[in-house]
Amino acid sequence: MDGLIQEGQFVGWTYQMDYEQALILTCDDWKLRARGVPLHCFLVAAKKAEAPREIVLMRVTGAAALPQDGEAARAKIEACQGRAADQAGDGAKDEFQFGGLKCRVLGTFYEREGRLRLGSDIESYDSAAQLAVYRPVGAALEKIVNHISPERAIAAEEEARRLGLKGELPRFPIGTVRYSSTDRQQRGEGAEPAAFHLNAVDFLARRTAVFGMTRTGKSNTVKQLVSVVKRTGMERGLEIGQIIYDLNGEYANANQQDQGSIAKVYPEDTIRYRMIPTPGFELMLNNFYRQISEGHNTLRGLIEGSKLTRSADIEAFLNMDFEEPRKEDSNSDHEYQRQLAQHRLKLAAYQTMLTRAGYEPPPGFEIRFEVNPGIRQKVNRTVDPANGLTPAQAYDWFDMARQIQEELITIGGASWIGPDTNVLMNLLLQKNDQGGYIPGFRLLQPFKDYHAPNRNTDVCSEIYDHLTAGKIVILDLSVGDPAQRERLGKRIARLIFQNSMAVFNAGRLPPHMVVYVEEAHNIIGRDAALTEIWPTIAKEGAKARIAMVYATQEVSSLHPNILANTENFLVSHLNNENEIGELARYYDFRDFAVSLIRAQDVGFARVKTLSNPFVIPVQIDKFDPEREKQRAASAKAKG
Ligand SMILES: Nc1ncnc2c1ncn2[C@@H]1O[C@H](COP(=O)(O)OP(=O)(O)OP(=O)(O)O)[C@@H](O)[C@H]1O
Ligand SMILES: [Mg+2]
Repeated sequence: MDGLIQEGQFVGWTYQMDYEQALILTCDDWKLRARGVPLHCFLVAAKKAEAPREIVLMRVTGAAALPQDGEAARAKIEACQGRAADQAGDGAKDEFQFGGLKCRVLGTFYEREGRLRLGSDIESYDSAAQLAVYRPVGAALEKIVNHISPERAIAAEEEARRLGLKGELPRFPIGTVRYSSTDRQQRGEGAEPAAFHLNAVDFLARRTAVFGMTRTGKSNTVKQLVSVVKRTGMERGLEIGQIIYDLNGEYANANQQDQGSIAKVYPEDTIRYRMIPTPGFELMLNNFYRQISEGHNTLRGLIEGSKLTRSADIEAFLNMDFEEPRKEDSNSDHEYQRQLAQHRLKLAAYQTMLTRAGYEPPPGFEIRFEVNPGIRQKVNRTVDPANGLTPAQAYDWFDMARQIQEELITIGGASWIGPDTNVLMNLLLQKNDQGGYIPGFRLLQPFKDYHAPNRNTDVCSEIYDHLTAGKIVILDLSVGDPAQRERLGKRIARLIFQNSMAVFNAGRLPPHMVVYVEEAHNIIGRDAALTEIWPTIAKEGAKARIAMVYATQEVSSLHPNILANTENFLVSHLNNENEIGELARYYDFRDFAVSLIRAQDVGFARVKTLSNPFVIPVQIDKFDPEREKQRAASAKAKG
């Protein structure tokens, strides 16, 4: 408990106390000397003794009128005032200087086995006015707001050992204590700021909510978090993958004039993805020739979202399914083989069509399929598609086959080609079943930028690998087709969850990851089914060691189940009772209801973390890319 009491910060005496609240007699001089007593500030109270055995922690919740009636109260206050005169040592005090403060009792600090503990109540209280009260600042305040219970500290140390780290798990500095909008005395020149840290043990594998109206610093908070998590990870040799769903492109910062992106601070450790080709960005897209179903789904989304008129053939194309047939779905091996051959023929027609529409095939790409020897002979006796064709050769093959279709049907039966392949050939050759012209493959031409010819692996797996290596992945979702973005975004989330769960289920420790999402009410909204991927991560990500940080201004539109399972809250200005009401159901946010509505200061957050049993008001640091860059460099040197 050393240092918690700072003599110079004396502000008064308790004159009434119970389990819930304390009334304090204070006087203007003391307040002035302690640089003011803002609403919501922390106070510590202890018996005036050499080494107090307990220190009560309180929060100022308002002013109290000094009772003028009632013998006992009056006498107590007079006694206090008498003691006050001694304390001040500068003669008798002017009676008018005295006033009362109302405080909520937050808990009691005490020591056991050499470790500082904080109980979340008081065990007993003395009715006689006894306790001297101080407003902690600097180191003392830091100790209070960063206190972590010995049990949690031990758990954190164990976790650190598992990760091969020495000492405690790292903690992330994110801001300094701030009580009120007007902060001239408490934070002005000469004031001792108290840094607030988010403990890794609270943050990793947990849920953190960032709430606040627009322009109150939610994104800044996220940037600051990403940066300190990265930096601390580097210092301690801990790899923590971080992925940001960047809806407005503000983290990726493709715009050169803009300052202040994460990518600038950690150029080697940040990988940015976009849905359209952009220098400095990886394509958050798949190779349509290799991720067939993905590519087809993308096209479906794009065509459905466009205003293009759709022929019957295009409709049929949109409804196709490119999944490979499964053996267990067939009655016999013969049947399965037949379906497989048809599927390959269909793929061949599709891939040929992609090339025809200007989708660049991967280098050295070959199209292969098998047809019965009679048909092969008829179409072109010199080529066997089973040996591989270039897309141009495949086009010629289909073109020829269409010209002698009638003949081929007499050889292979009406079903040799299958209805889907027939549609694809129509599109490829721009003729419908009646021989009339259709635009066919041309409809696909406008979307060829959605195809990534040089990609061999699935973009989702690639991203997972980056995260495993502790990189920062930014998905710039500010451009590209919305439906597509949502689908791919979900797919990435699902893959992260599934891969990490698989590691967990195999009895190993999954890598640490943090997923940041903005506009969270859209993805874990009230009506979201809890079985969807986002709510699943929010609910069950802990096992897979996935932390989730979600930001929104609409507290009330979030899924209540997710809200109830959130361990950390960072809340800045909210503008209505409704949102506050939602929040006031949690912890002691009710204490801050008025100030949350009234103070619109950017980055002024009321923070509740898992380790802290009460809310702490904090000014979040401004993300400063230049300063962060320097810090990152020194962290790298240390790590
Ligand atoms: N802690 C802070 N200290 C100083 N300035 C800040 C702080 N946080 C944010 N700002 C500045 O305030 C502005 C708005 O911040 P930010 O974009 O983070 O808000 P937001 O809540 O994400 O807004 P939106 O709802 O529009 O996404 C930015 O210009 C930012 O630089
Ligand atoms: Mg924002």
